[in-house]
Amino acid sequence: MARDRDVAAFGERAQRYNEGWLGQLHHQIADRAADLALTCAPAPRRILDVGCGTGYLLGRLAARFPQAEALAGIDAASAMVEVARGAATDGRLRFMAGTAERLPWPAASFDLVVSTTSFDHWADQRTGLAQCARVLEPGGTLVLADLFSVLLLPTLLAARRGKARTRRRATQLVTAAGFHSPQWHRLYAAIIQAVTATK
Ligand SMILES: C[S@@+](CC[C@H](N)C(=O)[O-])C[C@H]1O[C@@H](n2cnc3c(N)ncnc32)[C@H](O)[C@@H]1O
Repeated sequence: MARDRDVAAFGERAQRYNEGWLGQLHHQIADRAADLALTCAPAPRRILDVGCGTGYLLGRLAARFPQAEALAGIDAASAMVEVARGAATDGRLRFMAGTAERLPWPAASFDLVVSTTSFDHWADQRTGLAQCARVLEPGGTLVLADLFSVLLLPTLLAARRGKARTRRRATQLVTAAGFHSPQWHRLYAAIIQAVTATK
């Protein structure tokens, strides 16, 4: 299990992650990502949330996709997974500890993969996206929401060096992972955006 600084910090915040203005912000982003998922994948059967945190988005997706058979969430911080399990009220939900870079499912296990505000923390974004493509069946949909903006270019010179924080760089990685038809959507303010793409 990855124990990088980002993940350790999320583990420490897990119990209070949903609280306060930051918790509200994450819920609003997740709600908009759920709306977006509905428009590009109207009837998925098997859904994966990568970097699922406390499971809020997956719970919303369970409510909005009553036909879905299974909804899985994975997160690198085991404390987040414990909170998600404790909050789950739908029997189709499953949460486990693990990383985007080593998804523990066979190829073509899902038809919708979502991820909100987690990608920026992945230690190896290229490998994580390749794993998302691997576990999606052909024709499956990726919904990836995070901080993407040229306004963030200065941050690439310091703490977030090497991260895909612009549409251009993220589009390159998404395409290199094997996705096609990437489309960009503004989710929240100017810098929280989502890219949707098809395997
Ligand atoms: C800002 S939180 C977002 C949580 C949730 N998706 C949401 O929208 O509220 C980022 C999450 O990504 C997880 N994370 C960081 N690196 C990861 C990785 N390589 N694989 C899976 N999850 C990771 C963190 O543990 C944390 O729970």
